Amino acid sequence: MTAKIAVQGLGHEYVNPFTRERVLALDGLTLDVADGEFLTVVGPSGCGKTTLLNILAGLIPPTRGAVLVDGRPVTGPGRDRGVVFQEFAILPWRTVERNIAHGLEIQGVPKVERAAAVRRFVELIGLAGFEKKYPHELSGGMRQRVAVARTLAANPEVMLMDEPFASVDAQTRITLQEELNAIAQATRKTILFVTHNVEEAVFLGDRCCVLARRPGRVKALVPVDIPRARRTWKLFTSDPAFGAMKDRVLRLVREEVEGGGGDG
Ligand SMILES: Nc1ncnc2c1ncn2[C@@H]1O[C@H](COP(=O)(O)OP(=O)(O)OP(=O)(O)O)[C@@H](O)[C@H]1O
Ligand SMILES: [Mg+2]
Repeated sequence: MTAKIAVQGLGHEYVNPFTRERVLALDGLTLDVADGEFLTVVGPSGCGKTTLLNILAGLIPPTRGAVLVDGRPVTGPGRDRGVVFQEFAILPWRTVERNIAHGLEIQGVPKVERAAAVRRFVELIGLAGFEKKYPHELSGGMRQRVAVARTLAANPEVMLMDEPFASVDAQTRITLQEELNAIAQATRKTILFVTHNVEEAVFLGDRCCVLARRPGRVKALVPVDIPRARRTWKLFTSDPAFGAMKDRVLRLVREEVEGGGGDG
C-alpha cells in the first residue's frame, strides 16, 4: 500500500538574501503517513516543524528530497491539501457562514450545495446561531473553530495544522481537541498536526512523531493505541496508558531540548 503522504529524505536550507547566512532547518527527514491517519508532530522550538508543513502545503520548495501525496510529487499548493495555520486568520470582512463557504466558492461549488455544507459544518463546530456574526464578534476559540470549519468545508483529503489551538485558553482548547477528535473519527481525513503540547499530541494522534532538534529529522514515532471513541478528555486522562505515553513522548522531547545545540 502506498502512503497517503511520503516524505523522502527531506532537507531544507534557508539562505538570508542579504547576509547570505544559511540555516539548515531540516535534514534527511523521512516519514510515511497512512491514508486516514492522524499524525501529531512535536519537537523543540526551531526544529523545522513549520518548515515541514509549509513544504507539504507546497508553499516553499525543499532544497533536498521530496514529498509525495498519493504518490505524486508536491509542486505547489493544491485543493487536496487544506491548511490551518495559526497566522492564517479568517477573513474579517466575511461572516462566519461566508468564511466557511469561502473555499467552496473558489472551487465553484453551486450555491445550494454550499449552503448545505455550511449548515453541516456550523453544526459540527458548535456555532449554530452565530452564522451571521463577523470574526470581531467572536471569541478567540470560536474564530479558531471557524478556521478549522473553513478548511474542512473545502473537503481536502489532507489537513495540515500548525499549532491551531495554541492561542486559546485551556478550557476552550480541550473543547476544540474533543471536537477535532470527533471530526477525525467522522471524516477519516489524513491529518498532520504540529503542536508544542505533548498532552495534546498524545490525545489526538494515532501516532506521535518526535523530531530531533535542528536540523529536524525523525527521532521517534510513538504509536498511541487508544481507540478514538475513548478519546474524551475525561476517559483519556484517567487511562494509565495515556500517562505512560505522555511521559515517554515528553522524555524524548526533553532529550532533544537538553541536548544543546537547538534553538530552544
Ligand atoms: N524564512 C526563514 N528564513 C531563514 N530562516 C528561517 C526562516 N524560517 C525559519 N527559519 C529557521 O529555520 C529553523 C526552523 O524554523 P521553523 O519555523 O520551521 O521551526 P519550528 O519547529 O516550527 O519552531 P517553533 O516550534 O518555534 O514554531 C529555525 O532555526 C528558524 O530560525
Ligand atoms: Mg513553528
